[in-house]
Order: sequence, then structure tokens, then C-alpha cells
Amino acid sequence: MEIINTVKELKQALSSLRKKGKSVGFVPTMGALHQGHMDLVNRANTECDVVVASVFVNPTQFNNPSDLKLYPRTPEADGELLKKFGCDFAFFPSVEEIYPENRIVPQVDLGNLDQVMEGEFRPGHFNGVVQVVLRLFQIVEPDKAFFGLKDFQQVAVVKRMVSELKLPVQVVSCETLRTEKGLAMSSRNKRLSEEQKEEALIIFRTLSKAKEDASRFSSAETLQRAKAFFKTGNLQLEYLHIVHPETLQDLTDNWVPGATMCIACFCGEVRLIDNLTLIPY
Ligand code: PAF
Repeated sequence: MEIINTVKELKQALSSLRKKGKSVGFVPTMGALHQGHMDLVNRANTECDVVVASVFVNPTQFNNPSDLKLYPRTPEADGELLKKFGCDFAFFPSVEEIYPENRIVPQVDLGNLDQVMEGEFRPGHFNGVVQVVLRLFQIVEPDKAFFGLKDFQQVAVVKRMVSELKLPVQVVSCETLRTEKGLAMSSRNKRLSEEQKEEALIIFRTLSKAKEDASRFSSAETLQRAKAFFKTGNLQLEYLHIVHPETLQDLTDNWVPGATMCIACFCGEVRLIDNLTLIPY
């Protein structure tokens, strides 16, 4: 595996491989890598000839400076993991490489996708995600890009950006990886104590219970029951919604295939998000 820090070097390395007809799979990350990321690298390896992973804690997607400061950073361990899991190029760019002066900031119409849920509580977050993912796509020019469904709304936003800008990349969404007890794998889990990891299981229990309830109750009732159940734990709820999987609009009294429950909450100081498909596609 080659570790690369500059756009120029990465473009050079990839262009010669592309000339040989190799397909490129891309896994964008913010580091503090875990099994969930390695699952994306594995998937990229099975579907593409060459795998590139980027590790870049993107400042423009953090609306809260202390969240950015506290975001876990483990570059050495990240490099080791990427090598072990068969990544070909690990891209560790600086902020200047990603955001050079006088860059053009793209305007992308995301409809309402960036206004709800995460968008409501993290204003500007998806603008930052779109900026960085677009820039990374322009650098890597991947055939396929792999994203984890734990960030369900992010996947919808990136797909929308790709279709709005007619980018020649296929966005592949991959199932959320969970611990044996159900906690969704997340870089932020590194900031949880063992006790908090136990407490955070209320998230998956709430989602799983809602999935059971969905076969017997309306979406409004299922949501109310989930809110009440979540309150039996110790976490602070930020939002809990049942949404349409593509428009992300609330499903207030109807069910559709792919209806998804999305949650954001605080476990101590740590903000966690998760989701589960309640109605099969
Ligand atoms: O999901 C993430 O880790 C980030 O939002 C991403 C896609 C790497 C953009 O910074």
C-alpha cells in the first residue's frame, strides 16, 4: 500500500492504472477507522481492481468547533488497518490540498434532503459533506464509491449530488456493521466508556422494537411507542423520525417500502446516530 499526501501524486498514480484499464473503488473516511470501514474496503476490493481510501477530518462539515476538536484522530493505526485490509492507496491530504485558495465552491440543489434531521441540528453540515465528497471525487475519479448506511441521510445526499451533477460514479451503500449486542460501529464510539457503550444499546433496542411494532401499529403510533421506550434509558434524545427512504420526509400515518427510523442522541457528551429499515423494500 502506498501512503499519499498530495493531490498531484495521487492523480499521477491513478492515471497510469486507469490507462491500463483498471477500475477504481473509493472509500472516503474521516479516520479513526474501525471494522465498519474495513467492511467498505473489503467490498471495494471485491468490486474494483484498485482501492483508494481517504482519511481527512473535514472541517467544513462540523458546525460545532469542539466536536471537530474532539473528533478522534488515529492516523498511524488507520494506515496499518488500511494496509492489512488490502487498500492500495491511502490518501492523507492536508486541509490546503483539499481546500486550496480561490477554489470554486459548488452549488448543488439538494431539495429538502439537507434541511431535515441532521440538517436541522447541524446547520451547514451537508454543505460541507457535499464540498468535500465532490472535491474527493474530482481528485480520485472513482468508478464506484462506498458509503456506510449508518449515515443514512448522507448516502441520500451524496446520491442526490451525483445525480444533480451527473457525475460518472456509482454510489454503493453498505449495511451498517454492529457489535454483537447491536451498537452501530462508529468512530465516535472510541469516546465512550464501557458503561456508556452498554447504555447506548438502548438505541438499537429502540430501533428493533419499532421494527416489531411496525407490523402492528401505524407509523405515528410506532414513533410514539419508540419515543416512550427510548426514555426508559439514560440517553438524551435529539430527534427520532420515521422517514421515506428517498425523500426523507416524515411518514406520519402511512407506511412505504423502505420506511426507515432515524435517531440522533447524546450519550454523555458524545453524539450518536443510527437508523433501521422498518418495512422491507
Ligand atoms: O462519513 C464520513 O466519514 C464523512 O462524512 C465523509 C463521507 C468521509 C466526508 O467527510
